[in-house]
Amino acid sequence: MQENFQMLAKTFAGLENVLKEELVGLGAADVAIVNRGVMFSGTKETLYKANFCCHTALRILRIIGTYKVKNAHDLYTCARDINWHEYFDINQTFSVNSTVNSEAFNNSMFVSLKTKDAIVDQFRSVYNKRPSVSTENPDIRINVHASRDEVTLSLDSSGESLHKRGYRLGQNEASMSEVLAAGLLKIAGWKGQCDLIDPMCGSGTIPIEAALIARNIPPGIFRKSFAFESWKDFDEDLFEQVFNADYEIPFEHKIFAYDISSLNVKIASENARNAGLKNVIGFKARDFSSLVPETDKGLLIVNPPYGQRMNERQIAPLYAMIGDSLKKHFRGFNAWVFSSSEDGLKRIGLRFSQRVKLYNGPLECEFRKYEMYDGSRKPSKNQHYKQNFNRKGGNSNSYQKREPQSGQRTGQRKRIRKKPD
Ligand SMILES: C[S@@+](CC[C@H](N)C(=O)[O-])C[C@H]1O[C@@H](n2cnc3c(N)ncnc32)[C@H](O)[C@@H]1O
Repeated sequence: MQENFQMLAKTFAGLENVLKEELVGLGAADVAIVNRGVMFSGTKETLYKANFCCHTALRILRIIGTYKVKNAHDLYTCARDINWHEYFDINQTFSVNSTVNSEAFNNSMFVSLKTKDAIVDQFRSVYNKRPSVSTENPDIRINVHASRDEVTLSLDSSGESLHKRGYRLGQNEASMSEVLAAGLLKIAGWKGQCDLIDPMCGSGTIPIEAALIARNIPPGIFRKSFAFESWKDFDEDLFEQVFNADYEIPFEHKIFAYDISSLNVKIASENARNAGLKNVIGFKARDFSSLVPETDKGLLIVNPPYGQRMNERQIAPLYAMIGDSLKKHFRGFNAWVFSSSEDGLKRIGLRFSQRVKLYNGPLECEFRKYEMYDGSRKPSKNQHYKQNFNRKGGNSNSYQKREPQSGQRTGQRKRIRKKPD
């Protein structure tokens, strides 16, 4: 029987619900939403799967312990009482990272230093030697979170943030995080059940993440490594089982990606090729104002330009054009617009049926849904008020999950991880 332990999956504010659903789907237990994260419990297999399969997690922490602390001495004592040699060897390097929001401490550097001293002293007391610290590329990453009168010590099992999938060759200055793109798609109910259009695709993050979700390709497949591979208890056979399982399912619809900039279209299609998804996504250079969809219904997600680089004079006509194009050419679509520009969103001039508050870095954004009814059907009044995604059944765009047909193997991406010689 595998040991059960507590974990924390971190994500962006507003994506906690979709991450929770993902974790439950992977077999996580005791799932509870916290600010910008989801607490859960599970086994080593759950930890590997959470890193490998979650589209909306930024990192997965394995909780070692939570302690009541009043001062630096308490922190030192509880960190020193942990048997760190159960987690890593003396010849491995480590780092300590802290976040502080506590009465006892106001300096994260100090908390990291105190914890590091305790770890070093604990090793010394057992081995008469100490492990080295590496800030650049440590084997073991220790995380300290001090909040109110509590301190939580964890091991970071991911290493580099999980949004760094590894398929991106190029990006532009407005490229969004892969985790955010996956979160938008999940909020919009995307499971690959219809055609999808991104008319302003930039470097292609939304269409590429859409293809991964539609084909159930684990985003971790592109990563070179995860931090847990350096842990003392790393189970290579178990991770190979997780890595090589048959995840892929057939995707019978199309993804269309456009951008006014042919350079962006080139970058996006190279990124898609690098992800092995070039054949799933059709890329073309097009101006949204004259774009006629190549399909008569589906889901449209657009992340128009916004923010400091654009002034009011540019925002107003761009967003008015988006509203006009949706009205003219996209009847029968569910359209979602993601932007931080309040003025811009007002200029769209259409009724939205749902809106979700999210962040893109420090920018507060909204993700608004416009149901572009085919024909004369108008949205009823009670559909037209602010719904939150986490409301029960609030996502009116939910679809049936498609199961792979029996006997059908779709694992085209299957790779066998090489064991070291
Ligand atoms: C915020 S960026 C999209 C970023 C994208 N989500 C990504 O992750 O890379 C907005 C994109 O809209 C494109 N754009 C601006 N005006 C457009 C128009 N009229 N038609 C199509 N694309 C347009 C820009 O070239 C830019 O790539």
